[in-house]
Amino acid sequence: MTMSLRTIIISVLLIIIFVQKDMLSAQGAAGGACTIMIRLKTSDLAISYDDRLIVQNLNISIPQGKVTALVGANGSGKSTILKTMARIMNPSHGNVLLDGKSIHKQSTKEVAKQLAILPQNPTAPDGLTVSELVSYGRFPYQKGFGSMSKEDKSVVQWSIEATGMGEFAERPVDQLSGGQRQRAWIAMALAQETDILFLDEPTTFLDMAHQLEVLHLLQKLNEKNNRTIVMVVHDLNHAARYAHHMIAIKSGVVRGEGTPIEVITPDIMRDVFNIEADIVPDPRTGVPLCLPFALAGLPTADKVLGGDAVDKGDKPSLTAAGA
Ligand SMILES: Nc1ncnc2c1ncn2[C@@H]1O[C@H](COP(=O)(O)OP(=O)(O)O)[C@@H](O)[C@H]1O
Ligand SMILES: [Mg+2]
Repeated sequence: MTMSLRTIIISVLLIIIFVQKDMLSAQGAAGGACTIMIRLKTSDLAISYDDRLIVQNLNISIPQGKVTALVGANGSGKSTILKTMARIMNPSHGNVLLDGKSIHKQSTKEVAKQLAILPQNPTAPDGLTVSELVSYGRFPYQKGFGSMSKEDKSVVQWSIEATGMGEFAERPVDQLSGGQRQRAWIAMALAQETDILFLDEPTTFLDMAHQLEVLHLLQKLNEKNNRTIVMVVHDLNHAARYAHHMIAIKSGVVRGEGTPIEVITPDIMRDVFNIEADIVPDPRTGVPLCLPFALAGLPTADKVLGGDAVDKGDKPSLTAAGA
């Protein structure tokens, strides 16, 4: 009797320890401390192309139900990391764990029901229509080749509507504007009905209005549909506005991780992007705005771009409010 009681107590303690291991204590979007659930993480991940090691010792955790922005200079390994986390590439060492299980040891269809990825620069075959493209997202659910169930069709319809692509459904993807095309690909990823969405540079090559359109859509999917979003973005100010969590990568190694206010700092900007930057609060939201003024390491950096004209003493300071 005593033994079984002890066994129960030990089991409960182990469960608590296990659950706590998968929680991340972090600052929430409103600045207050909150506990965030983790379903997806990497464990000592190393990734190579042939013999060239690109990423090493990568241990990152993706907060569930949040937007995470992966930032870093060109060639730093962001796409490589995203592709490996989405099971398009195999790691040379370590694991990508989803709910504690390695995704590389699971079947493609099994993983494709949990994770969808919009790769960098996706291309559709000539003449493929938006609804045909979006239908591809149902592949993990199809049993026979090309047979769409009633449910598949209704999810495709929902994805097209959710991305505002209704009026373009029968248009060829290659005849759409950049923003419309990007939304069509997002609709395809949505049709996969996954909790986790990876997007590699979803706003690159779009004008400002279309960038905001895509970011608003992702924000809506996160807030209304509780999707976990991991995106690579180049615009740090977009990252600060739309992401709850940021990961800054340099040469395949994490150099900063946390809330935008923790990552967008002069030191991390210098280290990761080789720039000198003023960081000021966004007047609308209070999140950090990054204003680069020179390349790092230049002795006369301040003068080169007229930095002397700025009265450094009067710079507004960041507050946690709205960050
Ligand atoms: N298919 C590939 N074969 C060999 N090297 C690659 C390949 N793709 C990317 N690389 C190299 O891996 C490094 C990281 O690339 P990538 O992950 O695309 O960076 P980012 O997305 O941050 O710009 C770069 O040095 C790049 O040249
Ligand atoms: Mg890339």
